[in-house]
Amino acid sequence: HGQRRLYHEAVHDHFNVGMLDKNAAGVGTALVGKASCGDVIKLQVAVKDGIIQDAKFKTFGCGSAIASSSLATEMIIGQHVDEAFKITNKDISSHLKLPPVKIHCSVLAEEAIQAAIGDWRKKHEAVSASA
Ligand code: FES
Ligand code: FES
Repeated sequence: HGQRRLYHEAVHDHFNVGMLDKNAAGVGTALVGKASCGDVIKLQVAVKDGIIQDAKFKTFGCGSAIASSSLATEMIIGQHVDEAFKITNKDISSHLKLPPVKIHCSVLAEEAIQAAIGDWRKKHEAVSASA
């Protein structure tokens, strides 16, 4: 069981790692962290017509935080921002079968999705207001 979880985490390490240009149109960026364990997730979304076209992350932290962020990016690509905003850490942790002690790692991923969309909304509204 433990090995299976590690396998899942390892698989997820390789999806959507990297960064988008944070100044490009439609890109929202999140930086969230847990001071308690020193783990940080940077997550970005590229949105067009309300749909998340692309998502990237860079996570400095434990394997569960990396797997959670990777899974988060996979889940939200192709989704409407309103739908993606509703993803909870439970959706992530249950899929990854995280043990209780690692649940906060998936909470971090949930926060990262919401913060990235929040950043996009702020910029998007700023752009529409000036248009
Ligand atoms: Fe990625 Fe299950 S397929 S965690
Ligand atoms: Fe803190 Fe995983 S994010 S141990």
